[in-house]
Amino acid sequence: MAVTLIVGAQWGDEGKAKVIDFLAENTDIVVRYQGGANAGHTVIAKGEKYIFHLIPSGILYSKTVCVLGGGMVIEPNAFFDELNQLEKRGIEIDGRIRIADNAHVLLPYHSLIDAKREENMSITKIGTTKRGIGICYGDKVNRTGIRIGELLDDGFYKNRLPLLISEKNIILKNIYNEKEINLTETEDFLRSLGQKLKKYLINAPYYLNLEIASGKRVLLEGAQGTMLDVDFGTYPFVTSSNPTIGGALIGSGVNHRNISDCFGIVKAYTTRVGEGPFPTEAYNEEGEALRKLGNEYGATTGRPRRCGWFDVEVVRHAARINGLTGIVLTKLDVLDSLKTIKIAVGYEQDGKRISYFPSYGVERIKVIYEELPGWEEPITNYTKLNDLPKNAKKYINAIEKFCGVPVCWVSVGPKRENTIKIR
Ligand code: GDP
Ligand code: IMO
Ligand code: MG
Repeated sequence: MAVTLIVGAQWGDEGKAKVIDFLAENTDIVVRYQGGANAGHTVIAKGEKYIFHLIPSGILYSKTVCVLGGGMVIEPNAFFDELNQLEKRGIEIDGRIRIADNAHVLLPYHSLIDAKREENMSITKIGTTKRGIGICYGDKVNRTGIRIGELLDDGFYKNRLPLLISEKNIILKNIYNEKEINLTETEDFLRSLGQKLKKYLINAPYYLNLEIASGKRVLLEGAQGTMLDVDFGTYPFVTSSNPTIGGALIGSGVNHRNISDCFGIVKAYTTRVGEGPFPTEAYNEEGEALRKLGNEYGATTGRPRRCGWFDVEVVRHAARINGLTGIVLTKLDVLDSLKTIKIAVGYEQDGKRISYFPSYGVERIKVIYEELPGWEEPITNYTKLNDLPKNAKKYINAIEKFCGVPVCWVSVGPKRENTIKIR
């Protein structure tokens, strides 16, 4: 079957983009299905480093078509900036980008309100990327959002835009004490934006399912991760979309019957950015050491990532929800120098053993750890499973056994070639 889904199994930044780039070589179409410029997807190819925020991570192969799916929220300036950067670096993008016409447009007032809410001490601070993501998805669900395709529709400017802007102005003026938006200027901006975007727009379910029927191979690229899912993550400390498999279907329009594989991208330890519970977080020198070894700083905001140990319960949660058919284990090399490695094998909540990731009261979890011996040698240059030290293999086996999902690939460095096929 034609479609492979790539989903983050932890709190994002698992190394999804590296894996997408690696798999894209044998793929025709890569579809980003949710999120927006909150994502920071790093690819290192032929000695060059790229960080993608909106453009799918398969763009570096000249044959791949890249689709920004209908589940995304797209900030036009960020989109054009990213395209320009790629063109400047010699990446041929002509005719290779498509945008689902039902994706939503993210405008400056979304980011403004996001930032204002984050700075307001009387509202729960989420630690968002301040890219306006939650506000834009809020508008979508409130039916006050703007679909990209509507930018080409006269009826939208006549019937919907005036009401949308007047409602936004009530909010901006009365709640945030901000300048009101000018309707005529907004209409002019959106009309010219529509003309600029016109050549990219597609009806995604029609286009993608037709391409699949004709034999094309598709990768669905998730942003964020299962634990940041608005329904399955550590709510309210989540993003405002569904990075999990349901979001992949909704955000692409690909028929579920075409999906054959769903790979969970799993870091060999755990990180998260922003606020919210993190049961296996390592503090002080322990956490600092992981941050330093893994160079754990956000690819979008540059914030230091919180670091901690591998959490089996988190990955099992992701396996259950997404029906993971395999794990791609990333950043194993980061653990090279450790004498021993902790792995969280279970939880107690309020004194009772639980074998699931709870939907509430996560801060009351007591973590049960096991400790495994480290391998204490560099593994980045290894290319085969048999090259790996005994204790690295034991660590991989433990992850497979505890998570109940086969590890199919191991990533031992940030470059394309630092990838080992396990099965
Ligand atoms: P994404 O958001 O899931 O695509 O991940 P990010 O790009 O935000 O963060 C992953 C970081 O780890 C990037 O800097 C990658 O270059 C780097 N990386 C990916 N895989 C590996 C690996 O196996 N080893 C090491 N050392 N770094 C990796
Ligand atoms: P990639 O795709 C890690 C986090 C933010 C914050 C929460 C909500 O690179 O893995 P938002 O701006 O989405 O409203 O912020 O989600 N977050 C991410 N953390 N990786 C990401 O993306 C993230 N995108 C959002 O830090 O805690
Ligand atoms: Mg990232």
